[in-house]
Amino acid sequence: MIAQLDPFHAIAVSTLAHRLAGQGRDIIHMEFGQPSTGAPAKAIAAAHEVLDTDPMGYWESQALKARIARHYLETAGVTVDPSRIVLTCGASPALVMALSLIGGPGARVAFARPGYVAYRNNARALFMEPVEVPCGEASGYQIDAAALVALEPAPDAVIIASPANPTGTIIPADELARIAQVCRERGIRIISDEIYQGITFSGDAPSILTVAPDALVVNSFSKYFSMPGWRLGWLVTPEDLADAARARMGNLFLTPPVISQKAGLVAFDCREELEGYVATYARNRDLLLAALPDLGLKRIAPPDGAFYIYADVGHLTQDSMAFALRLLEDTGVAIAPGIDFDPVEGNRFIRFSFAVSTPLVEEAIRRLKPWFAAQPLLETSETV
Ligand SMILES: Cc1ncc(COP(=O)(O)O)c(C=O)c1O
Repeated sequence: MIAQLDPFHAIAVSTLAHRLAGQGRDIIHMEFGQPSTGAPAKAIAAAHEVLDTDPMGYWESQALKARIARHYLETAGVTVDPSRIVLTCGASPALVMALSLIGGPGARVAFARPGYVAYRNNARALFMEPVEVPCGEASGYQIDAAALVALEPAPDAVIIASPANPTGTIIPADELARIAQVCRERGIRIISDEIYQGITFSGDAPSILTVAPDALVVNSFSKYFSMPGWRLGWLVTPEDLADAARARMGNLFLTPPVISQKAGLVAFDCREELEGYVATYARNRDLLLAALPDLGLKRIAPPDGAFYIYADVGHLTQDSMAFALRLLEDTGVAIAPGIDFDPVEGNRFIRFSFAVSTPLVEEAIRRLKPWFAAQPLLETSETV
């Protein structure tokens, strides 16, 4: 028996986008959550040097692990021994390893719906039971302590993400503390996906380690550090799971690329450039937030971080995939359908990624306005 995994529908949108671009169409890529800026300049310079001087074997950078530990001390006031950090090829393998550390087949893993597509699919791939918790506007589309109390039986683990994909919402510090408390009381392991940390627009997104030192934390260089293709990330584990985590990395993935580890270390010291990218995301977010009401999109999650806007288009469609494909064909703007993030209600949501340049966001808005104005309202829809 093999596990059944859903495809990532945004890939189908992107494939069409590239086909249209091949036919000469001018495409704006807002379907994937990836910075278009590339690695910081000094990180690229370091990579050039590695190519010229380093034979690049299997290798794990102790300096990078120490730098990550220092990062937690400086940003969260938390002491993390570098031996608890495993360097990975991005957040994706870190997530697989974290899940495989909290239980075996049949383990129950809770997470918010809507949520990142891989939570459901990774749980399934490991023959675990995904427990999708419907989360609406009232809780900022985030799982909260009350929802965890209500789960019977208690899940073995919960995955939280703050800021989240697809909504960009943040779990406030007091709620994070309540979640940690409930998880302690009920014996629920916390896996915190902190990949969007550093990209926030209204207040910080504290690390779970500030309130739950024994949580597993997944992070990566793909978002804030603008290095998605370098395939570099990390997993922080509690002390009792550190050996098991290292064994998993060694057997399943060996090491991340040497060139990425050396460039990643330098990227930690490129704050000015990276904060410039965050300032661009903030401008893009403001432009979209100002424009969306004119498009008739009034039900959106407050994007406090990351680079996404998750919008309800239920007054226009009940088939977000067909809607995304039509929008792309007609306007050249590629977006992600909500069904990637929510198998139940995602048919009436779309996600914009605004990790593109500001002129592209302006151009997208210019194209979207007449297109949305021309869309007929669904007969059954409420007026928004
Ligand atoms: C919430 C979340 N977690 C994890 C990942 C995986 O990131 P990577 O493997 O590139 O580090 C992504 C990628 O978009 C994401 O949005």
